Amino acid sequence: MRIGILTISDRASQGVYEDQSGPALREMIEKQFSEDVDLTYIVPDDFSEIKRALMKWSDDAHLDLILTTGGTGFAPRDVTPEATRAVIERDAPGLVQAMVAASLQKTPHAMLSRMAAGIRGRTLIVNLPGSPKAACENLAVILPALPHALELLRGKPGEHQWYENPIDEEIRKRDMAGE
Ligand code: MTE
Repeated sequence: MRIGILTISDRASQGVYEDQSGPALREMIEKQFSEDVDLTYIVPDDFSEIKRALMKWSDDAHLDLILTTGGTGFAPRDVTPEATRAVIERDAPGLVQAMVAASLQKTPHAMLSRMAAGIRGRTLIVNLPGSPKAACENLAVILPALPHALELLRGKPGEHQWYENPIDEEIRKRDMAGE
């Protein structure tokens, strides 16, 4: 499993303060999966830079999972969900619904996160809020479902054949009948 954690913060990217959420998420992931996080990076709250990082990590690095932290709120520069929606091909609303529902039990401010989650190719991208506490609380909600999610995304050997054969057969019959 290849995992990346992208911290999205103007101040952390400028070195004004140290990124705490990225390392906190990394610790959780490594504890849960007994695997190293492969890539970590910090970008400012900039639509193009976020989009570029997500595309590079999905298309070139072929990560299985990208967790982002930060930029999901209502502040003018919070554009993480927009950049994420610009790159995902399939939406994964259940993950977001589960995180918001569980977080509302902890704080009414949970409704202020505009997190997005979805799939690009075989990469699952999930937004998490910016504070270490909020990021970890939200990750804890989806952790139990992540292994199965990533297993489904990878697909099993023979699965494609199973899906493709009936269609091929239908087309072949139509071709033979001259339709
Ligand atoms: N979710 C949980 N579980 N715990 C929290 O403390 N904080 C909220 C929310 N989600 C919080 C949470 C707050 S205060 C905000 S503003 C939003 O996440 C957005 O955070 P972000 O702008 O840092 O991404």
